[in-house]
Amino acid sequence: MRDLIIIKFGGSSITFKSESPPKINEDVIKNAVEDITSYKGNVLLVLGGGAHGHQAAYKYGYGNDTTPKKKLLQGIPEIRHNMSLLSSRVEHIFWEKHHKAVIINPFSFVLMKDGKISSFPMDIIRRALEADLIVITHGDVCFDESRGASILSGDVIITHLAKELGVSRVLLGTNVDGVFTEDPKVDPKAELITEITAQNRNTVLRAAKSSSGTDVTGGMSLKLQELLNLAEEGIEVVIFNLNASHRLEKVLKGENVPCTRFNL
Ligand SMILES: Nc1ncnc2c1ncn2[C@@H]1O[C@H](COP(=O)(O)OP(=O)(O)OP(=O)(O)O)[C@@H](O)[C@H]1O
Ligand SMILES: [Mg+2]
Repeated sequence: MRDLIIIKFGGSSITFKSESPPKINEDVIKNAVEDITSYKGNVLLVLGGGAHGHQAAYKYGYGNDTTPKKKLLQGIPEIRHNMSLLSSRVEHIFWEKHHKAVIINPFSFVLMKDGKISSFPMDIIRRALEADLIVITHGDVCFDESRGASILSGDVIITHLAKELGVSRVLLGTNVDGVFTEDPKVDPKAELITEITAQNRNTVLRAAKSSSGTDVTGGMSLKLQELLNLAEEGIEVVIFNLNASHRLEKVLKGENVPCTRFNL
């Protein structure tokens, strides 16, 4: 494997998260896929749930501890169907740009327990990357040994895979420039925090709220907690705006653009 990088296409960017039925943001995906063309190493792409994952998950009571097991299990087909549609569309756009991408969906091999990963075999993903394929995986619903089923968020997948694969760079695209002093979708005076350090990490964590769209996995707040974990291990982590045209290309090239970097 050469210079393996993990990139997240945040669901808030690649779908219209507040629109129902779920709709894909084709322009953002096409732009982002083009940007990836400029990168010469191996790419592992993680798609967030966006409108496709979160709306169906919410409908069947995910994110609410009192939901009966039966109802959670009933939600599996709809969540899976929506995530298959979203990931197939992304795969198709890679194909249009002559890139060999494959989808590896967590539902078919990851197990959870109490909402956490209990088994996540790595051999297939590893082999696919070694074969120089672009791997697309995504937030998904997975069987859970205690709850019946749980949502495995894209952000949690990223933390897990970055550690397992020894990745040195993780880039997370979302629909805002990075982490702000307040939710920028709610407070227009919010300011971008360009660097998260040991000094400001707790203040930053307090400022990170859920999401302005439907998000059963904690929005910016849980995302940050996951990422702090990675940054502490010395992995380079950047949160940037995937909706800004060709921002991903600039981030990949290390150019100085608005974003949040971790320096712990
Ligand atoms: N302090 C903050 N700084 C930046 N964004 C914040 C903050 N607090 C809350 N948010 C919200 O977090 C949202 C981004 O998180 P969200 O989970 O919705 O995106 P995503 O990860 O791209 O989507 P998905 O979970 O579907 O992949 C922003 O749209 C914003 O409304
Ligand atoms: Mg989210």
